[in-house]
Amino acid sequence: MKALHTINRALSLVDGQTEPARGAEEVTVRVHHASVNPTDLDIVKGGFDLYFRLYGVKEPARTGLEFSGVVLDGSARFPTGTRVFGYTHLLKGPKTHQQVISVPEGYIAKIPDGMGFAEAAGFPLAAQTSLVALRDVARVRPGQKVLIVGGSGGLGVIAIQIARNIGARVTGLAGPAGQDIMKALGSERVVDYRQTPLSEIEGVFDVVLDLSARYGFRDIRPLLAPRGVFVPADPVKTALSIAANPFRRQKTGKLYVDRGDTALLTELAGQVVTGALETGPVLEFPLDDYRAAFETLKTPGRIGRTVLRMH
Ligand SMILES: NC(=O)c1ccc[n+]([C@@H]2O[C@H](COP(=O)([O-])OP(=O)(O)OC[C@H]3O[C@@H](n4cnc5c(N)ncnc54)[C@H](OP(=O)(O)O)[C@@H]3O)[C@@H](O)[C@H]2O)c1
Repeated sequence: MKALHTINRALSLVDGQTEPARGAEEVTVRVHHASVNPTDLDIVKGGFDLYFRLYGVKEPARTGLEFSGVVLDGSARFPTGTRVFGYTHLLKGPKTHQQVISVPEGYIAKIPDGMGFAEAAGFPLAAQTSLVALRDVARVRPGQKVLIVGGSGGLGVIAIQIARNIGARVTGLAGPAGQDIMKALGSERVVDYRQTPLSEIEGVFDVVLDLSARYGFRDIRPLLAPRGVFVPADPVKTALSIAANPFRRQKTGKLYVDRGDTALLTELAGQVVTGALETGPVLEFPLDDYRAAFETLKTPGRIGRTVLRMH
């Protein structure tokens, strides 16, 4: 079996992964596809070394948060042979860039008929995070103006649709390659940050969701309505702004999704089946081409998710 290992902050492919021990209320899954996302890149660069030390993480495989696959050793809820998808806890969970993992049942759901392994691997964390950000943290209501910064990326293509489905008036911000998809997915207005920097965007918004992780509250503030809410994708970088909330009318929302939610994943996958949501474009690489897959994360203009085919 193969796995991606981080050694001295570099990423390499090794043979000989040992069979994972299956814990209580866990199922063992043969991983079919696994996403690569910006957090994986941060992990490779050493950005999570301190947190991994604090949590006592010793496993050499440290990247991979989402996956799809087939249950090898199942439970009553997810019998052996079931096609499943899900994600793992960033610090406590097994990393999904391995060919076999044992995962808590609460973090997975069944892949509905008609959804492929590649699209299922790029969907769970992107969809759940976008939903939590807009519905629970920002509490978007129909008719509100919502700016999705980074609307063409892995989370953005889902976030635009979720805001649209709530009935919000959506503006999407991304580079030139992302303009068409943001429009097609339901943005009333699209803006190219290379032509129009954030500071020159016209109008104010009830909610600004920043999926580019490039802006702080000070940058976003002039774009917020008097009681507007800023939701940054990176709660660590924006912790001070979140702490200042009691003293301001314009708020910064804390977005951190790390709890499994089978019911929510099932509901979101159901929306794909009915056509209410699209998973968005998926770039697929064989595991041996993992370097090329990670390279896409550094390349502007990638639309949607990047996934590795693990078998
Ligand atoms: N808080 C949580 O619980 C949680 C959970 C999951 C993910 N995340 C975070 O969510 C973020 C988004 O992930 P992702 O997979 O969607 O990333 P991604 O695919 O890399 O997308 C980044 C987006 O930002 C745009 N962008 C880049 N520079 C920009 C700029 N200067 N101004 C405006 N837009 C810009 C990109 O457009 P171009 O390609 O055209 O440049 C792209 O649309 C990441 O930081 C990730 O770590 C947070």
